[in-house]
Amino acid sequence: MNDDVIVSVQDLHVNFYTNQRCNKALRGVSFDLKKGRILCVVGESGCSKSVTANAIMGLLPDLSRIESGSITYTGAEEPVQIEKLDRKGKDFRKLRGEEIAMIFQDPMTALNPVFTVGYQISEMLLQHKKAKNRKDAMEQSVELLRSMGISLPEQRVNEYPHQFSGGMRQRAMIAMAMACKPKVLIADEPTTALDVTIQAQIFELMLELKNTRDMSILLITHDMGVVAELADDVAVMYMGNIVESGPADQVLTNPQHPYTRALIASIPVLGRGHNQDLQPIRGSTPDPFDRPKGCQFCPRCDYATEQCQTQMPEEATVGPRHMCRCFHPIQEGGVF
Ligand SMILES: Nc1ncnc2c1ncn2[C@@H]1O[C@H](COP(=O)(O)OP(=O)(O)OP(=O)(O)O)[C@@H](O)[C@H]1O
Ligand code: SF4
Ligand SMILES: [Mg+2]
Repeated sequence: MNDDVIVSVQDLHVNFYTNQRCNKALRGVSFDLKKGRILCVVGESGCSKSVTANAIMGLLPDLSRIESGSITYTGAEEPVQIEKLDRKGKDFRKLRGEEIAMIFQDPMTALNPVFTVGYQISEMLLQHKKAKNRKDAMEQSVELLRSMGISLPEQRVNEYPHQFSGGMRQRAMIAMAMACKPKVLIADEPTTALDVTIQAQIFELMLELKNTRDMSILLITHDMGVVAELADDVAVMYMGNIVESGPADQVLTNPQHPYTRALIASIPVLGRGHNQDLQPIRGSTPDPFDRPKGCQFCPRCDYATEQCQTQMPEEATVGPRHMCRCFHPIQEGGVF
């Protein structure tokens, strides 16, 4: 593994077992998160972005399990790996908070309404032995809130989550995630519920974390616009597979998978007003229990051939560190 990789996911398969049916939610997913870079995992609803994040965090629900593949974290003194035998990712749970932290779409997933924000951040610091006592922990909480751009942190630290606005709650959750100085941040659609101005501020904060703390960030989004703003690397996901990945500038300027192109064509461009030729992606994602036989994108793809209906394309290299999973990659230049 390259020295610059901090989390490596290799050929990961995760199944859900519900009502005696099996949903193969991850079907051989591989990617590397590199040190000090932002990797965006992008795709429509239901394509298994959250399953990927939860597998890394050891947060998969009971009705699911890792069938095969591995996840390796190399940020600790000794690399930590989970493989098939450790199906719930127990080894990885030890890394939670201290090495890898996660933030969610709804801050209330992480914040408890009955305790003050300061109390919750200081609990995190005390639990992980990052503070000498409660007083020290509260002082550190004030500084954490301040560094996340919350004004009057001495006062805010004693307030409850419901006294915070949506954007401030998101900042408080990031402050809590940052409490133990993790090396990796996993952010699962952290701004979907926020208005665009606040969204931009939270993204600004993420860029700052990357630049000032050398954080490695796995950012999950369904929005190609976010990818264009923030990503160093991108992995495009469709129905449990990565269909295209590589450096963001490569993938965005020279997308080769029809799905990536379709996602890009659906982004509004700032400043072009309302009369843009936005093209929503035709059709919808298939029922995971009734999948197409061959390429999963086949029923929605304008380039599909007979081969696509019966065979699943393999990953192929289409440029420097640029991978695409399609029988007929589009090589006719960029769409940006
Ligand atoms: N708790 C669960 N129980 C049963 N199936 C689940 C569960 N969580 C996820 N799945 C299944 O796994 C697949 C991927 O879901 P996932 O939540 O990862 O999608 P996603 O890409 O995060 O979508 P969204 O953008 O809506 O958050 C779906 O088919 C979903 O039904
Ligand atoms: S393999 Fe075929 S159906 Fe799938 S994306 Fe490529 S061209 Fe379209
Ligand atoms: Mg999700």
